[in-house]
Amino acid sequence: MRNVLITGTSTGVGFESALLFAKKGFKVYATMRNLKKSDPLITAAKEEKLTIEILQLDITDNESISKAVTTIIEKDGKIDILLNNAGAGFAKTLEQTSQKEIDWVTDVNYTGVVRTTKAVLPYMRAIRSGHIINVTSIGGLVGQPFNELYCGAKFAVEGFTESLASYISKPFNIKFSLIEPGGIATEFMNSAVQKTQNEEGELVSGEYAPIFHKYLQGAQDRSTNEKVPLYQTGKQVAEVIVEVASNENPPLRIRTSTWAENLGNLKTQTDPDGTKLLNHVTSYFLE
Ligand SMILES: NC(=O)c1ccc[n+]([C@@H]2O[C@H](COP(=O)([O-])OP(=O)(O)OC[C@H]3O[C@@H](n4cnc5c(N)ncnc54)[C@H](OP(=O)(O)O)[C@@H]3O)[C@@H](O)[C@H]2O)c1
Repeated sequence: MRNVLITGTSTGVGFESALLFAKKGFKVYATMRNLKKSDPLITAAKEEKLTIEILQLDITDNESISKAVTTIIEKDGKIDILLNNAGAGFAKTLEQTSQKEIDWVTDVNYTGVVRTTKAVLPYMRAIRSGHIINVTSIGGLVGQPFNELYCGAKFAVEGFTESLASYISKPFNIKFSLIEPGGIATEFMNSAVQKTQNEEGELVSGEYAPIFHKYLQGAQDRSTNEKVPLYQTGKQVAEVIVEVASNENPPLRIRTSTWAENLGNLKTQTDPDGTKLLNHVTSYFLE
């Protein structure tokens, strides 16, 4: 039975992916940083008669990552799939963002992925098999207003993944995939707003405020008026992820919705799933 380690399963895409992977016959290690949030997943799994093992894992803490990985290796002797799903939104102007906030957005959206990947890779390399699936965003390909820190971190995950894939995939049979959703109707939006409010409850102030309000109003309008739906559900994104994990030859990149595909089109139209560029980089530098 193939097993999967998923980060950030308390809500949203991670929660739905845990259930769907279990339904499809994978052995699921659903991890979350705060085990007090595990009741909804335990209940949902029970209702659907699914077995899911829940472990504590905070992607900003090397010790917690190492503990979870060791537990899985002791039980199964391997990790087949790592789904780096945990992440958090952040929309604010760079000028109004503190160093603490910069460090946090980068840690939770980029460095956390580096940490978990580093912890799992040796076990995959040892058995010459594995699949690392990183959830980035269409914001990992297209920078968007007020999202400079979030998009910067997601761009970083894209570059990190491309680089690893170029020299690890072929010799060690470890696959890499990047999941690039557009909007997803999850806790993400609420937590992004809570994180970015200042003490007066403002998100962005001063000269930037009218530009930010225009951005927010546009987001509101787009969510209801666009012909191509902006938002997917967490379950829809989980379906794409499980399909990618079940694919013998998974794509490097996959947009999960038409909306995301349309937004990234100017960048991706000559090489939609990134295979051409990856093959070029691998052969140019290594063959
Ligand atoms: N929602 C969107 O519009 C959207 C669009 C494109 C891409 N994405 C990406 O999709 C992924 C899933 O997001 P979502 O929409 O499902 O949002 P979500 O419902 O807010 O879920 C995010 C998950 O990440 C977890 N997390 C946060 N910090 C963590 C840490 N330090 N260690 C471990 N887990 C941590 C959260 O746990 P807590 O409950 O403890 O906070 C939660 O389980 C993220 O990578 C996000 O960037 C989202």
